[in-house]
Amino acid sequence: MRKSCAPYTISQDDASINLPLMQWCSEYFVRAGGLAYFGDMLSAIDPQLAPTFIAFDDLSWQAIYQYPRFLTKRMRSERDQNQRAFKKYFEVPQSQRTGDAWFTKTMENELRAIGVGTEDIAKLLVTLHWAINTNTRKTAFWMLTYILRNPSYIEPLRKETEKAFDGENLVDLDYLHDNCPLLEAVWFETLRLASNAASVRRVAEDTVIGVIPYRLLHFDESVYGNNVLEFKPERFMGPANEKLTRGDSWRPFGGGKTMCSGRHVAKRATRE
Ligand code: HEM
Repeated sequence: MRKSCAPYTISQDDASINLPLMQWCSEYFVRAGGLAYFGDMLSAIDPQLAPTFIAFDDLSWQAIYQYPRFLTKRMRSERDQNQRAFKKYFEVPQSQRTGDAWFTKTMENELRAIGVGTEDIAKLLVTLHWAINTNTRKTAFWMLTYILRNPSYIEPLRKETEKAFDGENLVDLDYLHDNCPLLEAVWFETLRLASNAASVRRVAEDTVIGVIPYRLLHFDESVYGNNVLEFKPERFMGPANEKLTRGDSWRPFGGGKTMCSGRHVAKRATRE
């Protein structure tokens, strides 16, 4: 912990480390996302890519709401810096880019085959990098925050997960995934309380629109019981887990054919 926190540590003593949790979670997860999907070449090209991406991501509402140019200088500058790094990445010969996920080169090859140029490939993959990294870093922060603000869960979580840290490997990921119901309930309760997602749909013909405000669904007392404003992972323990997470009032990852395709990756990355 001390080693991975070193660049962020504000102060420390024998028993504790004081660090900016949001910045730490964000940079850690954005670096991990970059490494998993693009290999180590991306951060070699731009070692500042993670903070640049985060600065853009935090201002990206300006792009979504189409703010005028004169109000969005910083956002555009961070976005352009981000895109330049991806362009350089796709200019590097494929043989020198190792450790990426299979679909990164597959997508690139398919785009090249239909005549898409390097600059546009970079822009498309920037969007994917955005989808991968924007929500996971925030969910990791909220999960840790809820645990630290509700310390009665710390010991039970340590006990439940300790076997995952027993073996020769650094951590037994399958054990964490298959044998830790409290950890899973903490993940679901964090998503219920902290997700603020929206799904965007283009209406192509006259349509009666029923808007689904996802966040409000997650606070419906008739579904989630009393004290919906409180952090109570027990809601997701036992049979309630399946009932709630398959119900109509559970939408942290959106729905329909554009439902978040990274939801399983996000769950594993955040809990493990
Ligand atoms: C806790 C973390 C995450 C949350 C809360 C989240 C949430 C969402 C939501 C609400 C949508 C819109 C769904 C809709 O249109 O109804 C979405 C779309 C998407 N997400 Fe995630 N996401 C997370 C992590 C990830 C990760 C790790 C990846 C990639 C590995 C990813 C990739 C995508 C992609 C590609 C889409 C667009 C799907 C499409 O339009 O077909 N997400 N996500």
